[in-house]
Amino acid sequence: MRNVTKDNITDVFKAYMAASTDARTREVMGSLVQHLHDFAREVNLTHDEWRTGIAFLEGCAAIETEDRHEFVLASDVLGLSSLVDMLHSRPDATSSSVLGPFHVSGAPPLAVGGDMKRHYGGPILLAQGTIRDTDGNPIPNAELDIWQTAPNGMYASQDDEQDTFSFHGLMTVGEDGKYAFTTVKPVEYTVPSDGPVGDILRACGRHPWRPSHLHYIIKAPGFKTLVTEIFPDDDPYLDQDTVFGVRDDLVMTYVEKPASDFPEGLEISGSVTETFLSVDFDVILARV
Ligand code: BEZ
Ligand code: FE
Repeated sequence: MRNVTKDNITDVFKAYMAASTDARTREVMGSLVQHLHDFAREVNLTHDEWRTGIAFLEGCAAIETEDRHEFVLASDVLGLSSLVDMLHSRPDATSSSVLGPFHVSGAPPLAVGGDMKRHYGGPILLAQGTIRDTDGNPIPNAELDIWQTAPNGMYASQDDEQDTFSFHGLMTVGEDGKYAFTTVKPVEYTVPSDGPVGDILRACGRHPWRPSHLHYIIKAPGFKTLVTEIFPDDDPYLDQDTVFGVRDDLVMTYVEKPASDFPEGLEISGSVTETFLSVDFDVILARV
């Protein structure tokens, strides 16, 4: 086509793709470019604005490292990561929620009833529950990968003061599907905002805060792997999570209990002298 116009350019793009043999590529790319062109036409995008967009992408690429995933962060704050999660979440299972950039593979084993708090200050949180199938039956021997921030709001990979795997643990759940561990109550924290994504947040009048949460990945043979988070119901950022990760079924009450109610049989049983928080969170996995 030699007479390309602002009105036919989208169809011309699709015609140029006709030789693609992959139907899904034609569907995804055709729709992506349709929306991209419609967006430019709708807002009458100027050259300056187009250059700002390109500079944003270049800025993301410039600071991208093994530990800094600015493109993923951009997808997170734009709501795309959460939208993709929700498109593929199973309605009969626990909701999934953003993975985020701070998961590290190879976390040390954490026994059922083990402790991640160690010498750190802050309220003790006892988290426990059962991994179940959609009929309510316990799933034996599931693998539960747990991570969270230290009380300073930083993940181990962001903080030279922490060991590589502090506040990370990999638990093999018992035959009865039950898990339990102690940790320090997570705190709310900000996503990295010193790069191009921070510029977008500020330009949109947004803050970089996330409500406090525990991250879980749960794997069991025959079940769909679940990546999720648990939030306390009193967090001030629950209704304004900057990465859109909160779902109703992931919001739990952290109940304050006297030290005398701390159960036997856990790693720190017998050494708890102050009130502690307790959260019960059963996880439901869908079959593959
Ligand atoms: C997190 O929860 O660790 C996270 C998620 C998205 C962006 C940044 C951090
Ligand atoms: Fe997080």
